[in-house]
Amino acid sequence: MSEKKILITGASRGLGLAISNLLSKEYTLILHATREESFTNVDPKHHLLCADLSDPGQLNEFCKRLKKEHGDTLYGVVNNAGITFDKPLIYQPENEIDRLLQVNLKAPIMICKAVMKQFLLNKSGVIINVSSCVGETGNAFQAVYSATKAGLAALSKSLAREVSALNEEHSIRILSIAPGFIETDMTDKIPENYRQDYLKAIPANRFGKVNEVAEVVAFLLSDKASYINGTNININGGIL
Ligand SMILES: NC(=O)c1ccc[n+]([C@@H]2O[C@H](COP(=O)([O-])OP(=O)(O)OC[C@H]3O[C@@H](n4cnc5c(N)ncnc54)[C@H](OP(=O)(O)O)[C@@H]3O)[C@@H](O)[C@H]2O)c1
Repeated sequence: MSEKKILITGASRGLGLAISNLLSKEYTLILHATREESFTNVDPKHHLLCADLSDPGQLNEFCKRLKKEHGDTLYGVVNNAGITFDKPLIYQPENEIDRLLQVNLKAPIMICKAVMKQFLLNKSGVIINVSSCVGETGNAFQAVYSATKAGLAALSKSLAREVSALNEEHSIRILSIAPGFIETDMTDKIPENYRQDYLKAIPANRFGKVNEVAEVVAFLLSDKASYINGTNININGGIL
């Protein structure tokens, strides 16, 4: 097993669980969810580091522990944890707007900030921020969610450029991925009539499977993807 450690946020379900299952053999994982009880059957070679990222105090503590307990051995980060509250903006309470911004955007920013200094010292590391196709296309009833996902794509591109401005020779890569509609708890909540409308827009004629995203993440973390940096990778069955 490699000594490389990878943090995966939101690793208890959906995309995060599929990514952690796929990476489990090759890497030592730091698995995150809101609480330890969200996990069953964790291989003892991995680490749990849990926090409700909607709580600024817990996010702060999470970043401190990440740096203190794993900072010098961390090789990769998959900022995957995310939430939705789908409704028209005019009916969206401010506390939901705050939670969307906090979990989907502020937490990944603070996690990038927490790990970046050591990555610069090591001159290596990979960050993959999990954006969404709606970050590019926009989506009715997901205005704030879409804004957070567009933010993650911009964050990734900006940080990639920032790293090269600070450090000429390095192998640090910062990317985002933009899944389309992937079958998870998050998409299970979409009403059937909307699901049928979304399907019509997908040339592949089906929703995606979690493993189809996990395989791309594994590739992007690996040295095989050494020249893929500062970009947003679509995994969406062909949605324009
Ligand atoms: N599914 C899709 O079609 C799709 C498409 C594009 C992008 N994405 C993005 O992909 C990522 C994963 O989506 P998914 O469908 O796999 O989601 P999911 O099945 O709903 O899983 C969400 C994960 O995030 C964690 N989480 C939820 N609230 C949290 C909070 N307040 N603080 C910390 N962690 C929290 C959950 O932990 P607990 O188990 O402890 O609650 C869980 O591990 C998200 O960023 C989502 O926006 C998904």
